[in-house]
Amino acid sequence: MVSKDIVFRVKQLREQISYHNHQYYVLSKSEISDFEYDLMLKDLEALEKKYPELINENSPTQRVGSDVSEGFKQVEHKYPMLSLANTYSFEELDDFHNRIAKTLQEQWQYACELKYDGTAIGITYRGGKLLRAITRGDGTQGDDVTANVKTIRSIPLVLSGNDYPDEFEIRGEIFMPHAIFEELNTIRVEQGEAPFANPRNAASGTLKLLNPQTVAQRRLDCLLYFLLGDNLPFDNHYQNLTKAKDWGFKVPNSLVLCKDIDEVKEFISKWDEKRKELPYDTDGVVVKVNSIKQQQQLGFTAKTPRWAIAYKYQTEQGSTRLLSVDYQVGRTGAITPVANLEALQLAGTTVRRASLHNADQISLLDLRMDDTVFVEKGGEIIPKIVGVNTDLRKPNAKPLVYATHCPECGTELIRLDGEAKHYCPNQAGCPPQIKGRVMHFASRKAMNIDGLGEETIELLFSQGFVNDIADLYDLKYEQLIGLERFAQKSAQNAIDGIEESKKVPFHKVLFGLGIRYVGETTARKLAMHFGLLCSLKSATFDELIGVDEVGERIAQSIVNFFSDEKNLKLIQRLEEAGLNLRIEEQNKTLSDEKLNGLSVVISGTFSRISRNELKELVLSQGGKILSAVSSNTDLLIAGDKMGPAKLNQANKLGIKIISEDDFFTLIES
Ligand code: IVH
Repeated sequence: MVSKDIVFRVKQLREQISYHNHQYYVLSKSEISDFEYDLMLKDLEALEKKYPELINENSPTQRVGSDVSEGFKQVEHKYPMLSLANTYSFEELDDFHNRIAKTLQEQWQYACELKYDGTAIGITYRGGKLLRAITRGDGTQGDDVTANVKTIRSIPLVLSGNDYPDEFEIRGEIFMPHAIFEELNTIRVEQGEAPFANPRNAASGTLKLLNPQTVAQRRLDCLLYFLLGDNLPFDNHYQNLTKAKDWGFKVPNSLVLCKDIDEVKEFISKWDEKRKELPYDTDGVVVKVNSIKQQQQLGFTAKTPRWAIAYKYQTEQGSTRLLSVDYQVGRTGAITPVANLEALQLAGTTVRRASLHNADQISLLDLRMDDTVFVEKGGEIIPKIVGVNTDLRKPNAKPLVYATHCPECGTELIRLDGEAKHYCPNQAGCPPQIKGRVMHFASRKAMNIDGLGEETIELLFSQGFVNDIADLYDLKYEQLIGLERFAQKSAQNAIDGIEESKKVPFHKVLFGLGIRYVGETTARKLAMHFGLLCSLKSATFDELIGVDEVGERIAQSIVNFFSDEKNLKLIQRLEEAGLNLRIEEQNKTLSDEKLNGLSVVISGTFSRISRNELKELVLSQGGKILSAVSSNTDLLIAGDKMGPAKLNQANKLGIKIISEDDFFTLIES
């Protein structure tokens, strides 16, 4: 039996921690230091460890996330999770207002809030406790991501007060603040992983991670903007949402009540500028008829409510001065011009560089030195230059002359027929190409060598230890330990990681060689087809184009690669080092193609990879892609926002439906 004192102490600690959590994560205030907060949390953890019978799933200690879960359960939404119609101008907003005027006899008011750019979530509370959290999915059913949502500290696990309905749902947007996003991307790039394109993708990708502990580390945040249930305290949105604040929810500070459409417009104009100061992304304003009774009178179309609309702000554009152009050299020698700009605040981040893609793009823009350029931030990480303000151009501004020589090694650049990019042909001697090849080889999708990130490779190159990928296998512990970055443990890790990579299957080694145009899928197909590197090495152009999905461009690139004496020597050294240069016998019969012969339909949007990449992956696993669900379909891969028609059809025909994560589990099994 646990003593009463202990039970009391645990309860007290939980209440205190929840109180300070709310102060800090919802109200942005802190009454105690981080140290004091951590002490309380540690106390509680210790008590729960000692008295496991006191552990409770809603204890603040559970925020760190439980262990790895097995995919996500699909759960039906009690209320369909609809989207909103978009408007982009005040005229369209007037149309919305006039449509409402036709239906409503009595006066009405609008509630307005900012439109938060993240990923939607519906959270159900029962008896004041967080019961479950579901993503939008296809609007009818979504993924049960409760374990992940519980790690978000601004979401209460247990509600405050006692005037909440016994059961209700609250919806909101999970997002990643700018600062966390930038920190996360820096780490990802350092570790050789692809950065997230924007905070929205980072938030939705994070929410779909299978390990809640990783989710907890990513420090997502959530704003709640919509209540659903039978016994809500008030008959209108504004008061309900304001009340939800008392229960501990983080609700939009921007929430206001407007008595007419002109006040709505004032609100929109006010926030157009002000929202840029916020530490997270917003992309518009949501305008809602306030009274729930009037909302019901207006009803819904098939996809959206008639009582609410989203006003979307124009894509963020800004203008600034072009200072200079740098030429970046990739691992294949491809040159990418990058503009250096006078610092500019755009959509909450400071922009100093913008991509210019290639020489054609520069001539198309007719770019001159010192020009004032328009910069836009789309979905990509690097903003783009979309135009020049010629009114501000200086009369003697010099046209930009594209680089003729490699900025890194001085070799004259070439441009092949039909290619948009210039190349530095000095593959063997150009430092960024050498380092880039080693980084690619060591990356997760190729040899997956732990402990060899960008900075380490830079260092090994600058010390003259690594000049090509085969040099990695000659590295010695004694060499590493002498370097400033390495301690005993990290040196041993790197050596172990390199040793471990010798077990990586042949198709990954082939991908790691970095033959131009040979991506993951092609490498897999080539490995399957030829079985051995030496057969591939001696394949003719005609043999190569006979391989599934290998076209002339790829075939030529492979022939070129293997006709280079230096590459042949490199491969010989890799073979001597003991790498897998042949497919293992048991895999030869396509047995590692997990979808061999299956017909697959892909629907919706995906967070871990793009739709095209998903298609490629299905094909590489021996599957066939169909566009519509029919009795010939074996499998439906369901992403977010999947059309309900496809889902119904698949259910009707009894076709197996799997989520994006299930798919990965399947192919990685
Ligand atoms: S209300 C039926 N309010 O934008 C009305 N949605 O494009 C439910 N969103 O599905 C939505 N901020 O994911 C509402 N203040 C806000 C919002 C908001 C962002 C998202 C939400 C919605 C989508 C529509």
